Amino acid sequence: MDSPGKTVLVTGATGLLGRAVVAALASSPHAVAATGWSRVPAPGDSPFPSVTWHKADLTDPDARTALLADVAPHAILHLAAERRPDACKDPDRLAAFNVELPRALAEHAAASGAWLLYISTDYVFPGSNPPYAEDATPAPLNDYGVSKAAGEDAVRLAAPECATILRVPILYGSIESLGESALTAIAEPLRDLEHDTRPLLIDNWAARFPTHVDDVARVIAALLALPVADLAGTLHFSGSEQTTKYKVALLMLDILGLAESHIALIAPNPNPPPGAPRPQNAQLSCARLLALLNAADLADLSTPLIDGLTAALQPFASDFRRPATTATADLS
Ligand SMILES: NC(=O)c1ccc[n+]([C@@H]2O[C@H](COP(=O)([O-])OP(=O)(O)OC[C@H]3O[C@@H](n4cnc5c(N)ncnc54)[C@H](OP(=O)(O)O)[C@@H]3O)[C@@H](O)[C@H]2O)c1
Repeated sequence: MDSPGKTVLVTGATGLLGRAVVAALASSPHAVAATGWSRVPAPGDSPFPSVTWHKADLTDPDARTALLADVAPHAILHLAAERRPDACKDPDRLAAFNVELPRALAEHAAASGAWLLYISTDYVFPGSNPPYAEDATPAPLNDYGVSKAAGEDAVRLAAPECATILRVPILYGSIESLGESALTAIAEPLRDLEHDTRPLLIDNWAARFPTHVDDVARVIAALLALPVADLAGTLHFSGSEQTTKYKVALLMLDILGLAESHIALIAPNPNPPPGAPRPQNAQLSCARLLALLNAADLADLSTPLIDGLTAALQPFASDFRRPATTATADLS
């Protein structure tokens, strides 16, 4: 986009990233149309009255065509996807949602002259040879990564000159439940720890780069202001701090004031987690994005993890309690 005040369609706007993107764009000069699938805010309930909401199953070609005709977007920010690696069990749904839908949106963008932003993931990489440059060859380890890489290929083929693929790693931010983000989900078992059980093992094997959705939203808003010709192709954005889920758990205990009582109740797990295979370290090199945005360093674009986590956990802090103990107090 090379001028302000365009019509922007945000898919997956009710999701973790979508809510942040809508919030970032609601006060911009752009006219924002937002989609949800199972829910959208009731008229009058949206915190952003300027945003128009559409409830649509975008895997349904008729619903998709009607939406695109109705909104006539200059920019499509395609966020909606199945993104839980352990939930990618239905190959037909996964192909329709994570591959055919981005393909159809890219075809529409190419035909209409719109810009398409397709959000992808670090899980397209195997995690054995980081960091990964924008032009590194994807070699995903699980069905989720395979579907997102296939979505990337479909977008590149259908709209080589007007589509941007933006890969991001594990996301967190303002959450509706602790389980909504794979990062804040670490806090769920911490809530129920007991003294008389064995320490809870938490993944210390995979390197993670938690990325705040508000930062991704700011990056997307900045990209919207740039000429499409500069944006075509692949970009990476990532939080700047490397950590593991175990280290995040330690940070959470600190934030919640439970470090002293809980520290012995968790332990680092040096082995790969169970479930769908995951990359050990899929660190994204973000050089092209930094150059585009004139940023010296990723830290300039990233919320410090401790600040982001503190804000994310704050609404849930009262759910955490000191662990029950069966030990009898020593009164001698
Ligand atoms: N979350 C992460 O850690 C992470 C990491 C890397 C990359 N990503 C990528 O970032 C993007 C956004 O992820 P997210 O975490 O915000 O996802 P999310 O919270 O799971 O949200 C998914 C969105 O998709 C919508 N949706 C579901 N089925 C749909 C359908 N058939 N038609 C239209 N919309 C449908 C949902 O609508 P309802 O809520 O109304 O049902 C929701 O708005 C995805 O492309 C994902 O692959 C995410």
